[in-house]
Amino acid sequence: MGKKHKYIYSFKYDIHNSDLCKLESRQLFGKEEKNNLLFSDYKVNPSVSPFIKTRFEIILYSEDYRQLLKNIEEQNIQTNGFKAEYLVLNGDTTAYPERLKKLKDVGFCIEGDPDYKTPSIIYSICHHKNRWYFGILKKHNSDWFKHRKKPHSFSSAINIDIAKTLVSIASKGNKKTQLLDACCGVGTVMLEACFSGFKIEGCDIHWRACQNTRKNLAHFNYSANVYRTDIKDHTTKYDAAIVDLPYNLYTFSNDSIISNLIESTAKLAGRIIIVSTSDIKALIKKAGLKVSDSCTVEKKGKKFARNIWVCEKI
Ligand SMILES: C[S@@+](CC[C@H](N)C(=O)[O-])C[C@H]1O[C@@H](n2cnc3c(N)ncnc32)[C@H](O)[C@@H]1O
Repeated sequence: MGKKHKYIYSFKYDIHNSDLCKLESRQLFGKEEKNNLLFSDYKVNPSVSPFIKTRFEIILYSEDYRQLLKNIEEQNIQTNGFKAEYLVLNGDTTAYPERLKKLKDVGFCIEGDPDYKTPSIIYSICHHKNRWYFGILKKHNSDWFKHRKKPHSFSSAINIDIAKTLVSIASKGNKKTQLLDACCGVGTVMLEACFSGFKIEGCDIHWRACQNTRKNLAHFNYSANVYRTDIKDHTTKYDAAIVDLPYNLYTFSNDSIISNLIESTAKLAGRIIIVSTSDIKALIKKAGLKVSDSCTVEKKGKKFARNIWVCEKI
């Protein structure tokens, strides 16, 4: 880290999601995470991504640990309901007893009653490349895992890690973005958007898909509009749209159907994230869109890979 940054993000992902995570971090931060770490000035809620474990907001740093403690004391922090935690970043080899001692050191620098179970703020210390950092820690909320047990599913439903990433990429983490899930299926993408507080609407040509999406949303107490319509007849405009194309495995699809779906969605939004099982670059271009970024997600044990295309209007 040459320059001073406001935040340190830590990441966790399985190897098969590595390219997806890097695509997401390029889209959210304008650069890739490296060794599960990323320094940035962008403020992103870790819970919008399936891969960001923590966000550490840097308040102070020093190469000299004693000096850092002195500087924390000088901040004269007085607050009740706080917790102190040691954040282990990738590459930090500090042994557990030492980490425990250091988090206590930090706790003693803060005036007020701590709350270890439901803290209102977590002050934290971490170490990276010979430098000690003090700051505020925000952790990923993994409650979205409950969506794995949605009441209605089908074989074409996308996996929830990918669904969550599609939402973060489409919105770039901006909660004001108006999103459309153009082929909502059973609503896997919509559930992730609703969980993270994004505004989303969905549509699907099949009544049963719409009914199942509505039931899935209601099951988790989310509310969002779901339209039973062919995307070509939908007229509402959005900031960004997600299109998980029919895969031709269980529903029929060909180049002309895919072209129509992409062209119809392009009329409704300027930014479109498309999921396909084949190379559709030519069809994307034909729809008047350019691919600004992309990746392929291989899934262990699955017959096909999924391509994710980040597209903008030319
Ligand atoms: C791959 S599935 C989407 C799965 C969804 N992402 C999920 O996880 O449940 C594709 C969906 O596109 C819908 N679809 C196909 N043609 C459509 C059209 N012209 N307009 C709207 N939806 C369409 C299908 O009914 C199907 O539910």
